[in-house]
Parts: sequence; structure tokens; C-alpha cells
Amino acid sequence: MADLAAAHGIDPAKYTKGIGQERMAVPAPDEDIVTMAANAVAPLLSDVVRDAVSTVIFATESGIDQSKSAGLFVHGVLGLNPNCRVVEFKQACYGATAGIQFACDLVRQHPTEKVLIIASDIARYERGSEGECTQGAGAVAMVISANPRLIEIHPQSGLFSVDVMDFWRPNHRSAALVEGKLSIDVYLRSLTEAWADFRRKGGLPLDAVDKLCFHQPFTKMAKKAFAALAEAAGPEAAHLGEASYADSQVYGRLIGNTYSASLYVGLCSLLDNCAEDLGGRHIGLFSYGSGSVGEFFTATVRSSYRRYLRAEAHKAMIEARQRLDDETYAAWFYDVPKQVEDRALPQEAAGRFRLAAVEDQRRVYEEAIPEAQLVPLQAVA
Ligand code: CAA
Repeated sequence: MADLAAAHGIDPAKYTKGIGQERMAVPAPDEDIVTMAANAVAPLLSDVVRDAVSTVIFATESGIDQSKSAGLFVHGVLGLNPNCRVVEFKQACYGATAGIQFACDLVRQHPTEKVLIIASDIARYERGSEGECTQGAGAVAMVISANPRLIEIHPQSGLFSVDVMDFWRPNHRSAALVEGKLSIDVYLRSLTEAWADFRRKGGLPLDAVDKLCFHQPFTKMAKKAFAALAEAAGPEAAHLGEASYADSQVYGRLIGNTYSASLYVGLCSLLDNCAEDLGGRHIGLFSYGSGSVGEFFTATVRSSYRRYLRAEAHKAMIEARQRLDDETYAAWFYDVPKQVEDRALPQEAAGRFRLAAVEDQRRVYEEAIPEAQLVPLQAVA
């Protein structure tokens, strides 16, 4: 962020304190939403999970094809069960939450099945725009099952949708358009309206909730969200303070916005970084996708959750990234026409799967680093 601020002649404190971001993840030319997704899913694929996956839901707002689901590329790369349905969901940063809710109902109907939810996105704004400092890239993979290992999602949820132009990306554009201040206002209104809907439907009062996770386009947004929720909830939120969401900000501050994955990067950050044992405690989650849809829901952390965390692998991945100079960043991130040309791609990515080439407008993926050589960075916990 300090380098970006210097390149634009801006006080770095605006980015680090005003926006609350320290670093930004930039994908290498041979990384895309599919390779990030495959690298996120691979460590979850025990034989039991692989055989039981009945549905793959891929949530993204930076899709690589107008027709074919990015989930099918992941299905192919990882050799998933052929007897399953694969689909892509889009509603800005909200898509994965819709996927989770649909998946919970599928699993209630068919308790032996598992649903794989993938959220993978590259957040890109115009070079030099106010949004540039909030960019990022990343993916989260989650398994929804009748016997969850990490959290149990409650059936109640509060919803708020409104047709608004706060952030959008027409088909011909690679960078998003945004009305920044409007987007913050709509986000905050959606949060309080969705929470009120949640309470009307009998959802948990906030005084029963211990931790909060907000969709986090930049970490300052979580602070604004908490203030708005605390004001709307009044005495119900009296026991909650900055400590209720601080652990959920650790990874986002170093990665940037990951759009559909952002809330779940925050959840992962909370589970990995919270020193207290969260077993049995309730978490409130707010998902927001511009345009716009907001959803507030709650979950209980399972008592044995710590056994399944991959905190060391997550931290190692974040630390293994390389610092880019401004010229390389601009060439990698903003030369979008080159990214879709037919060509072989030199190896830059450090993950197990990468984009090897574009041939006759077909994307060709490869396993660049065999699983055995990844230990301890990404191996199954
Ligand atoms: N030192 C410390 N703080 C400073 C500072 C300095 N030198 N200079 C400015 N600041 C502070 C400001 O006081 C302000 O703080 P508050 O918000 O607490 O008042 C903060 O830094 C930002 O400054 P500006 O208001 O001047 O910000 P900006 O005009 O540059 O734009 C933005 C900020 C609107 C968030 C812009 O980055 C943007 O458009 N981002 C993309 C859109 C976005 O993320 N929207 C969020 C809601 S929508 C959503 O959540 C969906 C999604 O993922 C996109």
C-alpha cells in the first residue's frame, strides 16, 4: 500500500489507516479464478468428500466465460465425481452466500450428499481510481454437509434487496465501475435492514452473539458496519466491541477485496486467529453484494473446530507472496487484452495448479507442482 500510495502521490496513511489495508494480492498472469479455486479446493478433497460431492456451486463476479461455469474447469482439473451438478452463481460479492443457503437446503433434503461451494474473485478497478487501493484476489472453498466440522449454520436469515447502481461491471469492461460513497451508504442500509428482517423472523438476538463477520471490501468497512449495527441494535449489542470483529480482519488487511470470497476470508481469519476457544459460541455474519443484496445470518462454532483449521498453511501462503514493483504490477494486472490472447504462459504462480496456455481460445490448466512437493504449504491438514 505504501508503494501504491507513493506511485500515486498519496499519503500512505490514507490507505493504511483511512482504508485499513496494508497489502494487496495480485494474481500472476498464469493464475485466474479457476487456478485459485482449484488450489483452495484441493486440500479439502479426502476420498470421502470427493465421492459425496453431489453439487458444485462456483460463485464469482469475475467470470472467465459467459457460458461455461468456471466450476467445470475445476471439476476437470481435480477429477471430481462425474455424477454431480455444476453451476456458476453471480450477484456481486453476495453469490457464495446464496450458494450456501441453497446448499443447506439440498443437504437437509439429502443428508448423505455434500455440496462444494467455491468463491473466487479478482477485484479490479481503474488504474489510479479511488477503488484501486481496495483491490485483491483470492478464493475460499467450503464443504456444506449434514455433519459440519467448523460451523453449523442456523436456518433463520434476514434479507434486503434493492435495485441500485452502486457498483457494476458491464460485459465489455474488465474493471468495475463504482459510486464509492453511495456503495458505502447502501451497504450500511442493507446491513441494518437485513438484520431487522432477521430479528422479525425470530433470529438470535445480538446479545446471544459473541463474534461478528462482515463482508469486507476493505477493513475500515467492518468498523463502519459494526458502528451502524450497534446503533440499530441498541442495548442488544452493548456487550460487543471492536474485539468482536478484529480477528476477522487479519487476512483481509493483507489480501484486499476478494469480492464473493471476502466474507469467508473474514470467517477463516476469525477461526484461525482468535486466541479464545470459540467452540459453542455464536457468530453473526453479514453478506453484501452491490446492486444490491444483503443477508444477515448466524452460526454456531463446532466444539472440535480447531482440529480442522489450516491456520499455518494459510499464513505460509500469505507470507510466501513476492513484492511486485509498480511496473510489474501494471503489466500483470492491467494488460487485460494480453491475458485473453492465444499464448503459452511462463510459470510465475506458486500454487499447485496454474493456467499453462490459451490455445484456440481454450484455457489449458496444468498441475504445475505435484501435491507431495507442496508440503507444508498446502497439504491436507
Ligand atoms: N490519513 C488517515 N486517514 C485518511 C487520510 C490520511 N492522510 N486521508 C483520508 N483518510 C481517511 C478519510 O477520512 C476516510 O475515512 P472515513 O471513511 O472513516 O471518513 C478514508 O480515509 C477514505 O477517504 P475518502 O473518503 O477520501 O475516500 P475515497 O474518496 O478515496 O474513496 C472508497 C474511498 C469510496 C471506499 C473507495 O476506495 C472506493 O470506491 N472503493 C471501492 C468500493 C467499495 O469498496 N465500496 C464498499 C461498499 S460496496 C461493497 O462492499 C461491495 C464490494 O465489495 C465492492
